[in-house]
Amino acid sequence: MSRIYKNIIILTGAGISAESGLATFRSSNGLWNNHKVEDVASIEGFERNPALVHDFYNNLKTEIQKASPNPAHLAITKLQKEYPGTVSIITQNVDTLHEKAGNKNIYHIHGQINQAVCLNCGQILETFGDVDTETACPHCQISGMMKPNIVFFGENLLCMDKVEQLLQTCDLFISIGTSGVVFPAAAFVQTAKYYGADTWEFTLEPTANNYYFDHHIYGQAGQTLPPFIDNLISETKEKY
Ligand code: APR
Repeated sequence: MSRIYKNIIILTGAGISAESGLATFRSSNGLWNNHKVEDVASIEGFERNPALVHDFYNNLKTEIQKASPNPAHLAITKLQKEYPGTVSIITQNVDTLHEKAGNKNIYHIHGQINQAVCLNCGQILETFGDVDTETACPHCQISGMMKPNIVFFGENLLCMDKVEQLLQTCDLFISIGTSGVVFPAAAFVQTAKYYGADTWEFTLEPTANNYYFDHHIYGQAGQTLPPFIDNLISETKEKY
């Protein structure tokens, strides 16, 4: 790479958290292989059996709270500290490993595991413990109306105004650990490319939107991302 980039976007998926011990969705023993998406990640499923959905996310929250960031997350912190351009993170992950690693400028487009939204008053609340069908909203005091602040299939993504603005000014787009099968996140690379960004993909194997990436680095992101970021940083030191 020879350019000094002004606006870097890093799009992350479940794969960046795999080396922290968290399951991805579509691998052989992934979350979606062991649960029915329509039961735990759809509005219909939540209305049909809210207790099951709360139980799924309470268990996932416990798993996530035990996990620590891995070298891929830490490499992003180093890039944000040492690179002269802006580095924004658009994550599909509901875990908080980017935050735990000290990453900044994080946009959770699929929601966050330690938040719930009250369907009565609309308040979004931090919830580090279990939430269930009896939990009362601390804001309006109504119980039984709390939903995990997770974007279910069919719901609108979060932070999309900011995401659109970031994609239009992006000159380096790096996708890490996502299979590229869920839209609109899977189309972000096309938008970035349209606006002239260089595009890089870090996964274990070719993905569904492989075609849109200029470069592919296959392997464990905890091993492949740190040297890539070190090189990005050293190139700016040579030029400045
Ligand atoms: N390093 C790099 N890439 C990895 C690693 C790793 N250690 N482990 C797995 N991967 C890659 C896989 O090759 C795969 O391409 O991460 C990707 C994980 O794909 P998915 O399990 O489909 O996860 P993701 O792309 O984040 O899913 C997107 O789907 O169900 C919804 O809301 C859910 O946010 C999720 C969305």
